Amino acid sequence: MAKVIKGTGFSSVTQQEIEILEDHLFCINEDGFIARRISPKQEEYEEVLQQALKEEQLIELKEGQYLLPGFIDLHIHAPQWAQSGTALDLPLYEWLNAHTFPLEAKFSDIAFAHKTYHHLVDTLLASGTTTALYFATIHEEASYILAQICAEKGQRGLIGKVVMDAPEQNPDYYRDASAKEALEGTERFIQRVKELNAGTKQGVYPVVTPRFVPSCTDSVLEGLGKIAAAHDMHVTSHCSESDWAHDHVKERFGINDSQVLKGFGLLTDKAVMAHSNFLSDEDARTYQEQGTAIAHCPVSNAYFANSVIPIKHFSDMGVEVGLGTDLSGGFDPSVYSAIRQAVMSSRMLEDGVDPQKEAASRGRAHSRITVKEAFYFATAGGGESVSLPIGRLAEGYAFDAQIVDTGIEDASMPIFDGMDTLDDIFEKLLYLTQRRNIVSVFVHGQQVK
Ligand code: GUN
Ligand code: FE
Repeated sequence: MAKVIKGTGFSSVTQQEIEILEDHLFCINEDGFIARRISPKQEEYEEVLQQALKEEQLIELKEGQYLLPGFIDLHIHAPQWAQSGTALDLPLYEWLNAHTFPLEAKFSDIAFAHKTYHHLVDTLLASGTTTALYFATIHEEASYILAQICAEKGQRGLIGKVVMDAPEQNPDYYRDASAKEALEGTERFIQRVKELNAGTKQGVYPVVTPRFVPSCTDSVLEGLGKIAAAHDMHVTSHCSESDWAHDHVKERFGINDSQVLKGFGLLTDKAVMAHSNFLSDEDARTYQEQGTAIAHCPVSNAYFANSVIPIKHFSDMGVEVGLGTDLSGGFDPSVYSAIRQAVMSSRMLEDGVDPQKEAASRGRAHSRITVKEAFYFATAGGGESVSLPIGRLAEGYAFDAQIVDTGIEDASMPIFDGMDTLDDIFEKLLYLTQRRNIVSVFVHGQQVK
């Protein structure tokens, strides 16, 4: 074994159920995977513990410290870190044109890209985000720098060089010159990142990334679908995010954007579609059949969607769901915030519990999710969405984990002996953890914080 971690951890079993792994040994092999999980009731516990001590491989959690899986951010715009927390009083279309496109255009400057991306990846790792599915910008070089920084710092990154070539929808100063150039740039980017990946333990992956249907021509969408199929690539985009985007696509094609994306071969089992707020049940069935996941971005939805997605309904239909911060449509780089907001937003939709009142209700019955479900989305659900063995403290999964210290000075949590069960502590961890409570972070067995 390379490492043995001793402590109490929490991991999802199903959406509704977690396992509490009290005082377990997590044995990590040389390849960075959890090879064994041993409970104190098992015979070999003492022997494995003593052996790990002797070989100086033991990392023992202190009292008040707990182990959680690393979080998976399924949707984050890396360049937008530079404007986080600003301009969120605008609607999406104005926000894109007045703030976001001018900012993203600046990533033709390599030095600016370096500075922003170093700062962001450090921040995410310190926040417990061990895997991130990034939108970069249209620039091949700056997008590659993001992949390099993930590789160097040990984060598992899935990185999309953004494609947006439609002259009517994108400003001249920030768009792909033609469909041909966008497709060639994507192909080159894929090859370069694949080579980079070969030198990493944790993995960095290129992603086919049309920004969203309104920003792309038919020919670029068709070409990207072919590239995704030819290389068995991850795909990501925005889908059914706002009334504006949704209506725009409906006018152009006469169908919903999810059906357009499917038609171009972009709804695959390795596809992750951000938002998806306005999916019809037929659209959601298509996601489920295709194995396409929703990156649920509850913080950003509060600003740009003016609605709450019925995430419980889609999840119950069997659609894969993970969480995204959607930085900077969401202001906070922490997936903890997305977990909290996912629960809060779902409660705002919950209504009509009394069937007599349902017709007149504001929302829909049975919409609320528990914190365990939100935790599932942030961990196991995210892992399933990107088809990687991550998101669980279970045998065969990569050891991506965070140690949270509930007793740290100036940020201690109200946990009292004889009062809190481990179930209570689990909930307090998810609601009260601040960045400084996260004392260690591991990605694929390597300590990165
Ligand atoms: N739709 C197209 N581009 C974007 C973006 O950068 N952020 C969000 N939230 N929605 C988008
Ligand atoms: Fe987004």
